Amino acid sequence: MLHRYEDELEYWRGFLGSLQEGTASPRDLEKYQAFTNPDFELNSELAAELPLTKNEAELKVLDVGCGPISLLGNRCAERRLAITGVDPLADQYKAMLKGLGVTPSFELRRGFGEDLDRDFPHDHFDFVYSCNALDHSQTPHAAIRAMIRVAKPGAAIWVNVNRNEGINASYNGLHSWNFETLVDTIVLWNPAESHLFEEITEGLPFRWQVKDVETEKTFPQQIDIVIYKDAVDLSKMTRCEPGIYSALTGRGRFLTLWAPSDLDERYNFFVHGLSKDGSIVFNKSLRWYNKLRRRSTAIPTDRGIALLRFGQFDVDFEAGRPIYDNRWTGSLRIS
Ligand SMILES: C[S@@+](CC[C@H](N)C(=O)[O-])C[C@H]1O[C@@H](n2cnc3c(N)ncnc32)[C@H](O)[C@@H]1O
Repeated sequence: MLHRYEDELEYWRGFLGSLQEGTASPRDLEKYQAFTNPDFELNSELAAELPLTKNEAELKVLDVGCGPISLLGNRCAERRLAITGVDPLADQYKAMLKGLGVTPSFELRRGFGEDLDRDFPHDHFDFVYSCNALDHSQTPHAAIRAMIRVAKPGAAIWVNVNRNEGINASYNGLHSWNFETLVDTIVLWNPAESHLFEEITEGLPFRWQVKDVETEKTFPQQIDIVIYKDAVDLSKMTRCEPGIYSALTGRGRFLTLWAPSDLDERYNFFVHGLSKDGSIVFNKSLRWYNKLRRRSTAIPTDRGIALLRFGQFDVDFEAGRPIYDNRWTGSLRIS
């Protein structure tokens, strides 16, 4: 394992040298500007995920697998971000930076993503971030769980990884995992084991989505996943037959369905978004897995949806065309 870290250190030694000499690419000089500028603005797409109703002048932010330079800006308009960066190689990075006469503009601490929930209080950070690091970790699913635990309720957890990094790098160095998006989920896998995203976060209060990022991608294959830690209070959910609870979660961006007892898994769910005049402007179907008990699905916010209607349905193809049979329906009004 140590030689794998040695490769990582070797890479950063060369890269930091190129930043100092100004020979790195203009994009890298811009991206790693914290190397010379301790006061730069957080990228607007990340800024949009900071808490909305926060009056405090300083937000606590965690960067997991931060490397020697956090990519997070430490300012967002009037608010300052107190960034804590955690990396197994923090001590070596600090020594490298010192050798170059550079003081990190954030708190750089030695640690593993997997141990965050032991090293920090739970419900502590206003924003938790990780870029291009969990696909270098030993157990990314444990790191994701720990990231959720140390985030405050309501906070966003942003995970950037490269698609199928293990395969791309022939499982060399620290690259022992693949993240892959499937139709309605994400899977973390390597030849020995696999974990569906729902299983990783099972039992935790969360909704998540794969972000369509507009900022130029660092790697064409990158996946950005945002998890919202917004606990759903069952007593505030809307109940409908047959024992399904529903709520709008993730700042109104998700419909979350929860069933305390088993449903018939052979029937899928449909979700329709209706405009004020009753026309269907959004249509999605979901598989239901009893072992997960809960499904969340992203709801578009730009289509004027006034009402969500959902239920389990059956399709009969025998008549030569699909005949839909809704077993039951529930609805949720969007204010
Ligand atoms: C490619 S670097 C990315 C650094 C930085 N986030 C960036 O995008 O420039 C990957 C980092 O992940 C760190 N890492 C490896 N295993 C880790 C783990 N289990 N938990 C947290 N970080 C880890 C490595 O030490 C390395 O600094």
